[in-house]
Amino acid sequence: MMKTKVIVITGASSGIGFTTGEYLAAKGYKVYGFSRRKRENSAINYIACDVTDKKQVKAAFEQINEDIYAVINNAGIGISGPVEYAAAEDIQKIIDVNIIGVINVCQIAIPYLRKSKGKIINIGSVAGDLIIPFQTFYSITKAAVHALTQGLNMELKPFGIKAITVLPGDTKTSFTANRYKNVVQDEIYKERVKKSVLKMEKDEQEGKDPVTVSKVIYRVLKKKNPPLKVTVGVEYKALVFLKRLLPLKFVNSVIYHIYGGE
Ligand SMILES: NC(=O)c1ccc[n+]([C@@H]2O[C@H](COP(=O)([O-])OP(=O)(O)OC[C@H]3O[C@@H](n4cnc5c(N)ncnc54)[C@H](OP(=O)(O)O)[C@@H]3O)[C@@H](O)[C@H]2O)c1
Repeated sequence: MMKTKVIVITGASSGIGFTTGEYLAAKGYKVYGFSRRKRENSAINYIACDVTDKKQVKAAFEQINEDIYAVINNAGIGISGPVEYAAAEDIQKIIDVNIIGVINVCQIAIPYLRKSKGKIINIGSVAGDLIIPFQTFYSITKAAVHALTQGLNMELKPFGIKAITVLPGDTKTSFTANRYKNVVQDEIYKERVKKSVLKMEKDEQEGKDPVTVSKVIYRVLKKKNPPLKVTVGVEYKALVFLKRLLPLKFVNSVIYHIYGGE
């Protein structure tokens, strides 16, 4: 009989993390969810953990007395507003959750994954590939996540550990409501920030069901040789592909007209 594979997913209390945890549990994986909150009556085994605190991450892993096949770094937050006006504490917060949190989990998980020759799946974003104005710090963190994936993939190759970034596009979750917003309307930025944030919020709330991301993660988990980066959805795959072909200045001018202009 095949041994049940154990998966750790961060940010498992809502949205993509919760849906993916439930989806993978239904597919036969044993799922541990690391988040500050938990959901009742779930197939996910919750361990309370703030990923920004390395001691908590270590203690959470120590509660799992099983081999771990994969970690899915999904916990993440968003902030919006112009770079010029962003509060230092908001910048620090998004770096702490979206970058340091992922690094904390990877550092603690690697010795476990060395044993299982397992996988690290980092949840990036199409916005880490196509930089979105007034969401610049979010784009920075997601671009960093993919840089981390690439570095890890090369460092961990001799141990048989594979790192992959999964890039969702707009997905309908509580991410929109949880975003830290700095919507200024002044003589300098005028209505641009408000217009841009409304556009991203509308796109997310009309976006994909989080289970579309879960299905992609499931396929990546099963693949012996997964690609380094997997984009969710044909339309986003096409966008990411086009970005590689077209001059960056042209790509950015299109994004400017959608998210940055008056
Ligand atoms: N929704 C989209 O359109 C979209 C698009 C591209 C990429 N993504 C990415 O997908 C991932 C999941 O987002 P989502 O859309 O599912 O958002 P969400 O519904 O807001 O879920 C975010 C999750 O992150 C957890 N989290 C936040 N801070 C944490 C911390 N310090 N420690 C531990 N867990 C923390 C939250 O749990 P607790 O509050 O309980 O700790 C929650 O479970 C994020 O990385 C996001 O950037 C989302």
